[in-house]
Amino acid sequence: MKKIVVLISGQGRNLQALMDACAAGKIPAQIVKVISSKPDAGGLERARRAGLATEIVAHKNFDSRASFDAALAAAMAEPDFVLLAGFMRVLTADFVQAYRGRLVNIHPSLLPRHPGLKTHEAVLAMGDARHGASVHYVTEHLDGGPCIIQGEFMVQAQDTRDSLAERVMREVEVKIYPQALAWMARDLLRLDGTRVQFRGKALEHPLGLTDLEPEFL
Ligand code: GRF
Repeated sequence: MKKIVVLISGQGRNLQALMDACAAGKIPAQIVKVISSKPDAGGLERARRAGLATEIVAHKNFDSRASFDAALAAAMAEPDFVLLAGFMRVLTADFVQAYRGRLVNIHPSLLPRHPGLKTHEAVLAMGDARHGASVHYVTEHLDGGPCIIQGEFMVQAQDTRDSLAERVMREVEVKIYPQALAWMARDLLRLDGTRVQFRGKALEHPLGLTDLEPEFL
């Protein structure tokens, strides 16, 4: 069983999907701790309800990124993988390097399009035909690390910011993140320099919704 730490700051819907998939035996991994950068994050309650260990490392109690990251690292207890799930802090290069290849994030856009915040607004403002989400390795470049899997859908004329946020979560995020963790836990994914290897071969393009295994559909 691989040991997983999940870092959150918000509602924890991605965390819920990861917890459910682990509990259902779909992933050979155990979430050993959920750490929140915010004391009132809804995801903390979800984790407690599932009987998971939780810890709050509140960024506002630290006067620098480095001291915050040191406290995070101290709270982590040697996980195999660290998953950022709605975690709203930018990590230092030292932290990112220490966990290189074992640290992944989910981002609500089709990277490299729309890194950063307000991705749904950006999709509408640019008139994008497609939207979705990406699971990627975390590197020193914000939202810029190599993508593992992306799920996408067509933007509809009636879509709003809220409907896009909802569709990204329901149609994409809660499927691709558990699937990506399952592949990681089975040692099928590796970060090789700047390329992702899947089942021993470099990926030319990120994996997609058509690659989901039946239990993650
Ligand atoms: C997700 O859309 C995630 O991609 C983004 O923030 C949102 C977090 O939602 N980074 P939740 O906390 O998982 O409910």
